[in-house]
Amino acid sequence: RPRVLSGAQPTADSYHLGNYFGAFKQWVALQDEFEAFYFVPDLHAITVEYDPALLRERTYIAAAQFLAAGVDPERSALFVQSHVPEHAQLAWVLGGITGYGEASRMTQFKDKSAKGGQDVSSVGLFTYPILMAADILLYQADKVPVGEDQRQHVELTRNLAQRFNHRFGETFTVPEAHIVKATAKIYDLQDPTKKMSGSNQSHAGVVDLTDTPKQVAKKLRSAVTDSGTEISFDPVEKPGISNLLSIYSALTGESVEAIVTEFEGRQYGHLKVALGDLLAEFVGAFGDRTRELLDDRGELDRVLARGAEQASEVASTTLDLVYERSGFVRGI
Ligand code: TYM
Repeated sequence: RPRVLSGAQPTADSYHLGNYFGAFKQWVALQDEFEAFYFVPDLHAITVEYDPALLRERTYIAAAQFLAAGVDPERSALFVQSHVPEHAQLAWVLGGITGYGEASRMTQFKDKSAKGGQDVSSVGLFTYPILMAADILLYQADKVPVGEDQRQHVELTRNLAQRFNHRFGETFTVPEAHIVKATAKIYDLQDPTKKMSGSNQSHAGVVDLTDTPKQVAKKLRSAVTDSGTEISFDPVEKPGISNLLSIYSALTGESVEAIVTEFEGRQYGHLKVALGDLLAEFVGAFGDRTRELLDDRGELDRVLARGAEQASEVASTTLDLVYERSGFVRGI
């Protein structure tokens, strides 16, 4: 079976709707057809300032939210990155074939380091995409379901795989990004020209998967809309309404056209209230499920241990091959 792999950083107390529609929903959809590996990239999370106790808690929250979203540990390996040491080991090898200039062109690093200045950014933040390439190549993944903001990192991964294969012999599967256009970039409800992100200055436009139904309804009511009155899908002229339509469509499975028809002759406010109700219900149920899962840490630990075991099997096979190809003496 072809393989799929993805992860989402445990850097907040909850994931948000952008993570859910951009990533988790695709993860869940792909786990039947693919041999799936989904993991919590805790090694990535330490590339910015962080608190160890919080990281530990957020790693559990991450695992619980993956499960609440529908990742099925019977079908997919669900694990924590640091439980599989091969990730860091392969990243080091890949670092040797990554150009400094090539790494410097990563826009996410440029954006993130722009906030505090490159001098205060960690070297880890700079080499982060190389670790991500290792995550992917270690499992010989065919597909990597992510949002639009990760496209460049998957492109780097492809280049590194091809380069290694070319220099040292066929070793890695060259992966493809799996980016579903309709939900590849969910926008902030307060500023629909910016992507929804946990690090946005205000949280008023970010719907977290742990928000209460009341909070969700309020965030939707105060969502920024556009000039004009007609509900239509036009991301350039009407980014706010278009974002709400995209979310509505992703949540219900109805096409955007059908929703536009349904709301014909009605006002922006109607759409905001209707979507607010739907999302309040969705997030409410999601929160209940997450809390339930978090109540049984023993069971979470068992799921993650089993996932790490499955992941290790594949990871150690790939790393062996890489070390062999790299010219390392293998010992006896
Ligand atoms: P991260 O943790 O920032 O985000 C997790 C996933 O959510 C997607 N996403 C969005 N999709 C649509 N609209 C949005 N507003 C939005 N915000 C976030 C992201 O594209 C991502 O798919 N580097 C990765 C984590 C990672 C990884 C990997 C992913 C580490 N190793 C290997 C895939 C494969 C990251 O920071 O995603």
